[in-house]
Amino acid sequence: MANRTVAVIVGSLAKNSVSGRVANALMSMQTKGIDWQRVDIAALPLYNYDLETATPPQAWTDFRDAIRAADGVLFVTPEYNRGPPGAMKNAIDVGSRPWGKAVWNGKPAGVVSTSPSNLGGYGANHILRQNISYFTMPVLLQPEMYVGGADKAVGADGEPAEHVREYWGKYLQALAEWVERHAAYAKAA
Ligand code: FNR
Repeated sequence: MANRTVAVIVGSLAKNSVSGRVANALMSMQTKGIDWQRVDIAALPLYNYDLETATPPQAWTDFRDAIRAADGVLFVTPEYNRGPPGAMKNAIDVGSRPWGKAVWNGKPAGVVSTSPSNLGGYGANHILRQNISYFTMPVLLQPEMYVGGADKAVGADGEPAEHVREYWGKYLQALAEWVERHAAYAKAA
């Protein structure tokens, strides 16, 4: 069976961000059935419907096309003030318009949150889930993934640290099954 493409969106714009390193480490693990496609959100102008003309910003169009082409989405978000960073919310907003054409509809999704603290970005994870609950987006419920101590979860070599490997592997396998299960739905939406 052909692999499914999962778009990975990282909520931090920092070059060496903790969540970016977690996302890269997740992508580096062998996950049967998934081809990863990192979709950058740094260049997206802030959402403003005045720009929603026949020629919207090219970065918006590229982003929408990339999500539309994917079979699923993995959000990897840090927590800024108990929610996802503005850049992540902006990406969700950009993908939600034009009205009635949200690129999120039908895409199965996973939400991973990260923090150097023990709470693992729990607040950001659930606020992001609330944001995307507006779409017909089936979100993986179990296993959950709040990466606490995220600054120590990835080695200098970019590989997941030994203590997270087993759980991350289980998570990714569940995500692959989730995306596969909803594949027909993703294409129909
Ligand atoms: C933070 N940080 C943070 N951490 C947390 O667990 N809960 C929070 O609410 C916040 N709030 C917050 C706000 C802002 C503006 C910044 C810059 C940081 C700390 C944060 O977890 C830490 O800086 C991580 O390194 C951020 O992830 P990235 O951007 O490196 O991926």
